[in-house]
Amino acid sequence: MGIIDRIKQKARQNLRKIVLPEGEERRTIQAAAIVQAERLADVILLGDENVIRERAAEYGADLQGIDIINPLTAEKALTYAEQLYELRKNKGITPEKAGQMVRDPMYYGIMMVKQGDADGLVSGAVHSTGDMLRPALQIIKTKPGMKTVSSSFLIESPNRALGEDGLVLFADCAVMPNPTAEELACIAVAAADTARTLCDISEPRVALLSFSTKGSASHELVTKVQQATAIAHEMAPELLLDGELQLDAAVVPEIGQMKAPGSPVAGRANVLVFPDLQAGNIGYKLVQRFGNAMAVAVLQGIAKPCNDLSRGCSVDDIVTTVAITAAQAQ
Ligand SMILES: CC(C)(COP(=O)(O)OP(=O)(O)OC[C@H]1O[C@@H](n2cnc3c(N)ncnc32)[C@H](O)[C@@H]1OP(=O)(O)O)[C@@H](O)C(=O)NCCC(=O)NCCS
Repeated sequence: MGIIDRIKQKARQNLRKIVLPEGEERRTIQAAAIVQAERLADVILLGDENVIRERAAEYGADLQGIDIINPLTAEKALTYAEQLYELRKNKGITPEKAGQMVRDPMYYGIMMVKQGDADGLVSGAVHSTGDMLRPALQIIKTKPGMKTVSSSFLIESPNRALGEDGLVLFADCAVMPNPTAEELACIAVAAADTARTLCDISEPRVALLSFSTKGSASHELVTKVQQATAIAHEMAPELLLDGELQLDAAVVPEIGQMKAPGSPVAGRANVLVFPDLQAGNIGYKLVQRFGNAMAVAVLQGIAKPCNDLSRGCSVDDIVTTVAITAAQAQ
């Protein structure tokens, strides 16, 4: 069974409430009906109920059992506005501004998650990554002990010799444009946690990637990855983690043995940490487009699960992301 089916199975075992702020959008409405029918989560759609119901009828989507909330008329918006003001008053927002913000479905949904009225949120079929992430980062914040929110991509390659039977995590490919050494270390530790908790990988083996292996090149970019490796070792001494490694040394056993003999990770890494967002984002798209790998993103290090979609996402992508968010919320 592939990773997505395993995660869906997990989601079904303990249903969580997932809010979809882009509730009037076609793919979101269709995905909500599938999620509800397959019992992957209890869905809440945000938006105008008449618009949502009309569109659902047009698309043949059955919304039975799905809650619909309109942030423009919901009474709860007043409570959320007060809470949002308390959370952000030191950032200069006024009570009036907070009142306006919570009428925006994105902020309303984030406040539902913050206050425990929903267990997780999925958005991004309409909003850009930045517009989805900013309210989540401002309000939900990081998990205790984590300084940064980042992402892992679950990559399932047709090459079963890689990672865990073809499953490898790539981090960070969506959030932090240019992480410091300390932030890179945080990304590495968070990705190992995602591997363990979401993907049931009992032994994450984390490689911090570079264009150099164990000092084969010297450059300030390489030094940053070496520093990040040292910091990550201090943060999680029990973790199997090594760097800096080139991609081939990380995943090909013979090359790992040749370039990094004695490494606990080289040649058999199942978590790959990219040095910055350009490398990570290009890297995952390369394996997806050239290598026919399945790729799906999750946010990590955040206090409650919120996940971003690509604006080009399909209905299936939304269903999968809701299931992942529900599994993370357990
Ligand atoms: C993540 C991102 C949206 C942050 O946006 P930004 O405009 O830099 O936001 P700011 O620096 O104003 O930060 C907003 C808040 O989020 C927090 N924040 C920003 N990045 C964070 C991170 N990685 N982890 C935790 N908190 C973070 C800030 O501390 C700030 O909190 P505060 O307002 O309480 O002080 C931005 O880095 C981004 O656009 N990243 C790339 C996204 C992208 O396009 N990905 C590629 C497509 S998949």
